[in-house]
Amino acid sequence: MTYTVEMPRIGTADAWRDAARSLVSNDVPPEQVQWTTHDAPPSLFGGSTALPAPRPISVPRSFLSMANSVVWHSDPTRFAQLYAFLWRLRQNPQRMQDRADVALASLRRMEKAVHRCQHKMKAFVRFRELPNGSAQRRNFAAWFEPTHHTVEPTAEFFRRRFADMNWLIATPDVTVQYADGQLDFTTGQPRPDLPPDASEELWITYYQNIFNPARLKISAMTSEMPKKYWRNLPEAASIPALIAGAERRATEMALAAPTLPRAHAAPAKAQVDSFASRWSGPVDQFEADLQNCTRCPLHCHATQAVPGEGPEDASVMLVGEQPGDHEDIAGRPFVGPAGQMLDRVMHDVGLDREEMYLTNAVKHFKYKPKGKRRVHQRPNSGEVTQCRWWLNAEIARVQPKLIVALGATAAEALTGNGKAITNRSGRVERHDGVPPVLITVHPSFLLRAPSPAARSEAEDVLRRDLGAVRSMIEAHK
Ligand code: URA
Repeated sequence: MTYTVEMPRIGTADAWRDAARSLVSNDVPPEQVQWTTHDAPPSLFGGSTALPAPRPISVPRSFLSMANSVVWHSDPTRFAQLYAFLWRLRQNPQRMQDRADVALASLRRMEKAVHRCQHKMKAFVRFRELPNGSAQRRNFAAWFEPTHHTVEPTAEFFRRRFADMNWLIATPDVTVQYADGQLDFTTGQPRPDLPPDASEELWITYYQNIFNPARLKISAMTSEMPKKYWRNLPEAASIPALIAGAERRATEMALAAPTLPRAHAAPAKAQVDSFASRWSGPVDQFEADLQNCTRCPLHCHATQAVPGEGPEDASVMLVGEQPGDHEDIAGRPFVGPAGQMLDRVMHDVGLDREEMYLTNAVKHFKYKPKGKRRVHQRPNSGEVTQCRWWLNAEIARVQPKLIVALGATAAEALTGNGKAITNRSGRVERHDGVPPVLITVHPSFLLRAPSPAARSEAEDVLRRDLGAVRSMIEAHK
């Protein structure tokens, strides 16, 4: 028998999960399922078939988390791809860890595209105030055109950010409205006529002022702020003129530059700046700015800066020391041997890497060349202090409830206390201005342990501490 399952436009994630559970638990193979969407021609499949009652099954949490994103992709085959993978996953649960699995790679690409689209939505939705609000509760509306179906999974972010006003985000796909503490989803609509907003003028002026012509990289800019979003961004109207005048403005800026302070004043100034200022660019600009970082000399020899990665609303942030040789080349944290060790321990204690935000105290790889090898060097306090600026920005953005400091460098960066961590591991330290910090050993400490006994002792510590993180997450669910 062939089952036809129609996915609704609203509530897609729950609908897919319920249908997949019912089908897979009744051993219905993928080739007996036709997945259709609300907008597929009705005559093609002749409506939904009743599904068998679900039976209890268990599915890896990492798959559920991936599926929760993939369902919002615009690829019409996403439901079938997910189900086919789930079917094979039941035969071999290790498949989620198989980086060579082509089907998994395709799902991961979709997941990433959805995350990116959510990120763009958070950065590029521009609200305009409507005249019908009250002094207690103002009303705002925005028009946005997402690439994927990201209104529903991103609505919670806007609810948390703008809880004290009523707002509506209209898109051609789904419209979400927030009023009286309630989120409501309805099907999409044509672009509404929104009034111009007084704050828009201010935003355009601000954008024109922060635009630095000397650092203009058009390809980086259009990759961070793709042109398709420009038509709904008030500030974008001034971009072509700003680009055209960039060379002239850069020359004027160079001619008008103040004389440089005397050399011995520079380190003191850098120190003062690093304490006084906070990175405050638009969220979407973070990675581009990080790549231009020259706050300490480590950028001179590293291939690239390595930003953190993970969900923007992760409740737990893991902070390592600095990227290693593999991370420096890949541009991603914890993908080399220490990362694999960390993955293994996290998996064993039931933590899902995809739910964590992983980053480093220092964003550039510090090393000493030795023949063909690049040998890791521990960053010094000055480098850690300079890079704390970027770590602060990531903490402010993600707002984790708990930070895990992996090793002494991360502990120093987060707590300001550079003492050895031997007696501090397993403890949660609290310091002003940072979420609670749980200190534990770095996974590379396990790899470098001088004997199997020392390694197993260190592994027990890491396992105990990450196990405690798992329990904390469970307790707050
Ligand atoms: N070690 C770290 O501290 N971070 C990485 O990203 C990789 C290895």
